Amino acid sequence: MSTPPHVTPWWKSASVYQIYPASFLDANGDGTGDLAGIIAKLDYLKDLGVDVIWLSPIYRSPLADMGYDISDYEDIDARYGTLEDWDRLLEGVHARGMKLMMDLVVNHTSDEHAWFAASKSSKNDPKRDWYIWRPGKIVDGEELPPNNWESLFSGSAWERDSATGEYYLHLFISKQPDLNWDNPVVRSAIWDVMRFWVRRGCDGFRMDAINCISKTDGLPDAPLVDHTQYYQPASMYFANGPQVHRYIKQMHAEVLSHHDLITVGETPFTHEESELAAYVLPQNRELNMVFHFELMDIDSPPESQLLRKPWTLGELKAIVSRWQRFMRDDGFWNAVYIENHDHARSVSRFGNDSAQWRTVSAKMLAVFEITQTGTLFVYQGQELGLKNFPRTWGIEEYNDVAAQNYWNLIKEKRQKAQGKKDVDMSDLLDSFAQKARDHARTPMQWNAGAHGGFTTGTPWMRVNDDYPEWNAEQQIGDDTSVHAFWKRALKVRKAHDVLIYGDFVMLLETDEQVFAYTRNYGSTSALVLLNFKEGKVEVDLGEVIGGVARYAFVLGNYEKEAIGLEEKVTLRGYEARVYVREALLN
Ligand code: NOJ
Repeated sequence: MSTPPHVTPWWKSASVYQIYPASFLDANGDGTGDLAGIIAKLDYLKDLGVDVIWLSPIYRSPLADMGYDISDYEDIDARYGTLEDWDRLLEGVHARGMKLMMDLVVNHTSDEHAWFAASKSSKNDPKRDWYIWRPGKIVDGEELPPNNWESLFSGSAWERDSATGEYYLHLFISKQPDLNWDNPVVRSAIWDVMRFWVRRGCDGFRMDAINCISKTDGLPDAPLVDHTQYYQPASMYFANGPQVHRYIKQMHAEVLSHHDLITVGETPFTHEESELAAYVLPQNRELNMVFHFELMDIDSPPESQLLRKPWTLGELKAIVSRWQRFMRDDGFWNAVYIENHDHARSVSRFGNDSAQWRTVSAKMLAVFEITQTGTLFVYQGQELGLKNFPRTWGIEEYNDVAAQNYWNLIKEKRQKAQGKKDVDMSDLLDSFAQKARDHARTPMQWNAGAHGGFTTGTPWMRVNDDYPEWNAEQQIGDDTSVHAFWKRALKVRKAHDVLIYGDFVMLLETDEQVFAYTRNYGSTSALVLLNFKEGKVEVDLGEVIGGVARYAFVLGNYEKEAIGLEEKVTLRGYEARVYVREALLN
């Protein structure tokens, strides 16, 4: 049964591909990816089965946080090209029947944005109140920042500006001052930015840190949880703040409701489904969906996403099944992703990136994603099974400001505690090798040529060492490759509405090796079997699905030929299988 188009918005069945422009393809040899490079690869994306391209920021920016620090919302950074290049890109995307989604980064701007330059120029400037300025706090005769909030990228969330002697708030680095959304003039300037891009033809927005735009009144001190430092995590005072829904509803009324757009909000620091439901439920008229962080946080201790804690399959199963079932009848809609530019590579985190298991486990993770309800997101390189770069790379290869700042903070603490300059940091490098954002930001591996075919110049970031064997050209010609499998998997998803819209019933709930579930939609059922470990495992389906008759094999990561379904199934290491059954209609 397929869903009538008038009740199902197009973006629900879409497969979205995220591009990190700096690392996608460099067409002019300056070492940084660009719009011309993306244009050159539109056929590649179309052929893969992509419906929507999401571009990480390409606006003018000093790139202090790789473009998530914007100095002009209505221009393209010269490194990436021009507005005319963007128009050409859009034309090429639309000509191929795809859509283009922009990254909207409006919790903060760059400190080099003209708005901030005006704001900081004087306490009386009309734009002073466009940002969040406060005087310092005097404690025992010493001036401290206005409160103890810790920046998400280490240190204080406040920066003192000597011109006026006041501090401005920056949840991220000091080059990313937070906008003051409580000022209605700021909000209308943001609606204008959105209208600018919609008028130019963009098809939607991914909204950066959108649940952080409203801060708790009075900006109270955060509770003391880290006794090693003055600054404390403060997300309870800036995530999902008191006015956030009022502001997003206003955004909807002013801009979104007038167009047929795809919208997805990034909503960190929140694992509570009911809290996130408010952004997504259709009657609230806010956003189509959000990126929740519960799965992404599964292997992080509270102190930092750059550190690692062990996770169990049981935890992963519980998280996924809870979100898959959450408020379906009320219209809650998921954004399904396991990889993006802020996280290490999924095959290294959730699969097994050893030579023996890399291909098969990357394919298993593809099945894991394409068999979930929600809009599907694939991150550049995920379709090739790209993995983290090696532990042997030193700290100098980690470009990301989050990694650099955290490294420096920990180093200073150790130097102070140990009273010497030369301190052992190898444990932190172990963690970074598994968790840093940099792993997702290495250049795309297009072919076996110099720098993986990414650039003819010197790449802004080192290409992973494995590019001679792991690259797109190699995989496109190989029917057994991760790329070929993703292509097939995206087609299988499109061919079976049950995988997109069906309900979700977890089987074998306590099994610590196998994630198994059924999906049901109208008269169709799908059965999904995923072995998350190396060892073979026997699954007894007899008791859990009441008969295996009529289940037809539609996808598997070992062989293409159909494998019949028995009551007792032996799954090989990281094996994944999908079966679909049509009920007998009488
Ligand atoms: C989330 C973005 O995805 C990340 O890359 C960025 O550093 C922060 N927000 C700040 O914009």
